[in-house]
Amino acid sequence: MRPDGRKNDEMRKIEAKVGVIEKADGSAMFKIGNTIAIAGVYGPKPVRPKHLEDPEKVLLKCYYDMYSFSVPERKRPGPDRRSIELSMVIKNALLPAIFVKEYPKSQIDVFVSIVQADAGTRCAAISAAAMALADAGIAMKDIVAAVAVGRVNNEIVVDLTKEEEDIEGTTDMPIAYMPRMKKFTLLQLDGKMPADDIKKALELAKTSCEKIYEIQKKALKDKYLKMRENENKD
Ligand code: CDP
Repeated sequence: MRPDGRKNDEMRKIEAKVGVIEKADGSAMFKIGNTIAIAGVYGPKPVRPKHLEDPEKVLLKCYYDMYSFSVPERKRPGPDRRSIELSMVIKNALLPAIFVKEYPKSQIDVFVSIVQADAGTRCAAISAAAMALADAGIAMKDIVAAVAVGRVNNEIVVDLTKEEEDIEGTTDMPIAYMPRMKKFTLLQLDGKMPADDIKKALELAKTSCEKIYEIQKKALKDKYLKMRENENKD
């Protein structure tokens, strides 16, 4: 039994909402347990500074930020080594889903704010950002869903909490996956794990990402159904 009573293959409660920032071109909120990510997408737009322009494909910029009050011990505001690394990790996990050649000489900015953190923030950030990109109408091959799997007390589990991450000997493996294309776009490993366990964990990540994908699709559909309802009222 896990500390919060979940089964090994059970994720925390998930909520997803699309269209949470009015002024963004696309936006979304993804909540998994006590971890909350909010993503805003701005673009496509001209590249600034211009010398970074790519005549063949889009320039994707990602910014991950964790609010000072999102964690028990206040985080110093502003970028740090961790947020710079996570911004890169998130960008690399999203890029394979985008038709990059559709947007030559253009830039797309993705801002993700972690307003509350209880582990798994990079994965929540990716799940939120993928919905926000789709909401912005960016041409995409697939939606990216992400979740951490790992080994806690010698059991393979999905969606670790901070309490589980802190147990001695825990191995944490954040995964991003495109369910329609059946392709992984992120695999990190923090700790040690035998090859057989990695295989098991990857299978668990796949089935869990497929569940997240359904929630993401529903959130996207819900926004457009609501828009249509409002149009009909006018
Ligand atoms: O969040 P994620 O699991 O993707 O990345 P991490 O760097 O492994 O951080 C794990 C967790 O540690 C975060 O989700 C937070 O709950 C916590 N953390 C914290 O309490 N204070 C920080 N300055 C950074 C992380």
